[in-house]
Amino acid sequence: MSATYSDLAGKVVVVTGGSRGIGARTAGAFAEQGALVCAVGRDHRALDAVVAGIADKGGAAFGAIADVTDSAALDGVREQVEGRFGPVDVLAAFAGGQGFPVPSRQLTEQRWREVLDADLTSTFLTIQAFLPGLIERGGGSILTMSSAAGREASGANLAYAVANAGLVQLTRQLAAELGPHGIRVNCMAPSSIRTEKVAAHMPPDVQEQVAALHPLRRLGTPDDVASTALFLASDAAAWLTGLTIDVAGGRITH
Ligand SMILES: NC(=O)c1ccc[n+]([C@@H]2O[C@H](COP(=O)([O-])OP(=O)(O)OC[C@H]3O[C@@H](n4cnc5c(N)ncnc54)[C@H](OP(=O)(O)O)[C@@H]3O)[C@@H](O)[C@H]2O)c1
Repeated sequence: MSATYSDLAGKVVVVTGGSRGIGARTAGAFAEQGALVCAVGRDHRALDAVVAGIADKGGAAFGAIADVTDSAALDGVREQVEGRFGPVDVLAAFAGGQGFPVPSRQLTEQRWREVLDADLTSTFLTIQAFLPGLIERGGGSILTMSSAAGREASGANLAYAVANAGLVQLTRQLAAELGPHGIRVNCMAPSSIRTEKVAAHMPPDVQEQVAALHPLRRLGTPDDVASTALFLASDAAAWLTGLTIDVAGGRITH
């Protein structure tokens, strides 16, 4: 990561979805800026690996186990973070991802509710857990995670598309409400990021086909998203709030 944001050093940062993929890379990127990072996930072995990787590079981080659809568990995360590092400055609510295609006539009520819960309600609950502290301190930055699937019609299932479109409006509305408290809220909407999961499960020829759909002719990387997250959380973006940035290689340009 080439950019340095000196104001991020010493900031307390929580990243949900921090055990793998985009969230893990973002947790590492914040730690490389000197931030104190809490990575949240459900898989303690994956979290341990992320924390060890950060420690190996001299960064400060710990892992907190929580299901982000469980508000009591999120309150527990907040207590752990405040106990170890102090009040939270940056909240990156990245956990989610249930986008696999399902024809809408086969999408059951139960599945609809599960996906909305995992991708949209989880972000609401995560923000609710940390909002009183951010308001009390009169500042902070919240980052939300949408998807290209929430920006345009795509092959993703309907519940995922709608949840991610909802995250864009959640971001706008919260930004308007929280601006007077000094809290900025911004969103990223990635397209086709080559996480370890994508690399393992998407055949190389399909990766090439998907890459060709993007004007920049490659898949995105977790670094592409992490570098955008650093910028949005930093003072370099002090006048930006309520935005959704399409981290999408030119495929989505709203
Ligand atoms: N990869 C892409 O191309 C892409 C594109 C657009 C948007 N996104 C969004 O980016 C975010 C991260 O995606 P990714 O590709 O990095 O996914 P990933 O590799 O599958 O990682 C998902 C992360 O979310 C966590 N998570 C999921 N549900 C959770 C829950 N209920 N409670 C706690 N943690 C939970 C997982 O934790 P555990 O494994 O520890 O449970 C894991 O850390 C998602 O919101 C996804 O919708 C990804």
